[in-house]
Amino acid sequence: MAIIYNEKNKTFNLQTKNTSYIIGVIEDTVLLHLYYGKKIRAYNQDLYEIAVTRDAGAFCGSDFESNPYLRSEALAVEYPCYGHADLRTPAFHAEYENGSAITKLDYVDYRIFDGKKAIPGLPSTYAENDGEVQTLEITLRDALTGLEVILSYSVFEDFDAIAKSVKIKNLTGQNVRLKSAISSTTYVFDKRFEFVHLAGAWARERHIQRVPLTSGNISVDSKRVSSSHQHSPFMALARPETTENAGEVYGYSLVYSGNFIAQADVGAYDLTRLNMGINPFGFNWLLEDGEEFCTPEVISVYSANGFGEMSRSFHRLYRNRLCRGKWRDIERPVLINNWEATYFDFDEEKILNIAKKAQSLGVELMVLDDGWFGKRDDDTNSLGDWVADRRKLPGGIDALAKKVTELGMKFGLWFEPEMVSEDSDLYRAHPDWCIHVEGRRRTPSRQQLVLDLSRDDVCDYIVDAVSKVLGSAPISYVKWDMNRNITEIGSAKLPAERQQELPHRYMLGLYSVLERLTGMFPDVLFEGCSGGGGRFDAGMLPYFPQYWTSDDTDAIERLYIQHGTSMVMPSCTMGAHVSAVPNHQIGRTTSMKTRGNVAMMGQFGYELDLSTLSDEDIAEVRNQIETYKKIRTTVHRGDMYRLRSPFEGRNTAWEYVAEDKSRVVLMYCTIMGKVQAELTRVRFEGLDADAKYRDTETGTVYDADFLMNRGLFFDDNHDFESRLMIFERV
Ligand code: GLA
Repeated sequence: MAIIYNEKNKTFNLQTKNTSYIIGVIEDTVLLHLYYGKKIRAYNQDLYEIAVTRDAGAFCGSDFESNPYLRSEALAVEYPCYGHADLRTPAFHAEYENGSAITKLDYVDYRIFDGKKAIPGLPSTYAENDGEVQTLEITLRDALTGLEVILSYSVFEDFDAIAKSVKIKNLTGQNVRLKSAISSTTYVFDKRFEFVHLAGAWARERHIQRVPLTSGNISVDSKRVSSSHQHSPFMALARPETTENAGEVYGYSLVYSGNFIAQADVGAYDLTRLNMGINPFGFNWLLEDGEEFCTPEVISVYSANGFGEMSRSFHRLYRNRLCRGKWRDIERPVLINNWEATYFDFDEEKILNIAKKAQSLGVELMVLDDGWFGKRDDDTNSLGDWVADRRKLPGGIDALAKKVTELGMKFGLWFEPEMVSEDSDLYRAHPDWCIHVEGRRRTPSRQQLVLDLSRDDVCDYIVDAVSKVLGSAPISYVKWDMNRNITEIGSAKLPAERQQELPHRYMLGLYSVLERLTGMFPDVLFEGCSGGGGRFDAGMLPYFPQYWTSDDTDAIERLYIQHGTSMVMPSCTMGAHVSAVPNHQIGRTTSMKTRGNVAMMGQFGYELDLSTLSDEDIAEVRNQIETYKKIRTTVHRGDMYRLRSPFEGRNTAWEYVAEDKSRVVLMYCTIMGKVQAELTRVRFEGLDADAKYRDTETGTVYDADFLMNRGLFFDDNHDFESRLMIFERV
């Protein structure tokens, strides 16, 4: 049983295979966080031990008439609310009709059931059968107003992960304004931790950052109505000594794609509160009497064995119980995308030539990127007008898609459905359909405005426009792009008292559009994109089993980006392409081999004009595609071990071990070489310890314990050189 309730001391022990998350009730009213870490059978200690050991005196009040020594600021309250003696950052903050913004949430009761409920309107993890997940729901209530909060904990026992979310029920007989409704609050009991997060910019996404906790707040967030290039809805709390394969780490990932906060609030007693959820900044939700509000969910993972194990838990859960649909489990096609080959300058003939050449080399899918609709010869116009440009494509999308299909390839198409260009028929017909505030400038970004997805008519238009195209031609793949952040937040349709709801309503609208379209076209593979990886978060995975990781296609830059992204995201979700040299983003020249080796560690494809390649490079491309087809299942469904980090030295090594441990793929890449450098030892991990493995290239057979303990040596003699090794268990 995953959830054990101990009636005697009122504790709930949420057990996964290797961890326990324990909460309990004191004073009959207060739900406390007691423990999260390695699995323990039971919590036999007095619950007051961690509540009263600190003799907190002046300026630290008690919310308990019965027990004035229970100092509220020294308590690890599981869902803290604003207004009483605990004045740290709350999870919950709401305003009532009398102007008061005080709530007191007391424990009422609990319910345990098999399975897991979906969260209305929001993406979430799911159970494939009720036996694999157990859920605990705890009801809290404000005695004065009657407001109810349901905390939900779904325990994925075998996946070693817990999904937490919150439902707020307005049973107060009045309207309530939600100002903060965090998804998960939890704690670490000292501050000897580092706050680990992923930060970056366009084309430099998700670089790993580690900062020590100190008194006060450390947080990352987004106010862009998109999870963003700058920060990811992820945080980890790791001991300073934690490495890839040793040491404690707590990982939290939010299944949401809009404004978020991930925060560590170190209190006066070093008790550290961890909040994660929708960003309270810019959030203000009118919850009418009788209505409910559901927060997105947070997935938490604890590893006693370093970041690698934390990531592998996220990877397994996300690829198996967050991604969904036909493409979840099957091999996805090797693609070629024309963007960096042609940009806007193409016609049917050019695209067919690219497709023909690619098909002859083994590529399985031809993707036509931006520029096929309206009169879009550059990025100044036509977004919103999803009708083929007959100047470039005389037979429309249908004729091109059929010709590509006849070559024996699948055909895919780029859309940016959330956007509108001022120079478009759509904007001329509906200037009020974009997000804007009357009287203020509609600030363009990449020459475009954002459609108001809080409106049903706009959402219907998008579903209709995209499905018309998808229904009109043999289209097997969609690249769904989103190329700006949202400014001048306002909607022509929402009443004044609901204007501040737009950021979250936008996300609800987007999720509903994606739900409808992926439901209507279950065979189509949808890949997400947002100027590369600008909205590559867990909330996107149910719709997009893969995501364009970054607009930076340079192999060396990609080492950092893919390494950081893999903290949470499995390799099967990371779009990675070989592009031309000198690279279009950074001007660097790397070999075809290295570009291929790095891209093969994600969802592999090409994004260059194959007709310009030398015979030698063409031979290499053919060889890469053949190799990739042999290893893609191992890379995408296997366990990933980050053996060498680009952030820590002059090379990178990633290893993927098949679930049944029968195959191993190792990619080693030198960043900057060094003359007469020392050799780098790489010790394998996760092999079947008693087995032998054969290097499929040289035929050499190694004992697994040799590979894992002695390891292999690599040289770093030359910049940007790489190796790909494949081993099979003998
Ligand atoms: C974004 C995407 C690119 C490409 C262009 C097209 O930048 O990230 O891959 O699709 O848009 O305009």
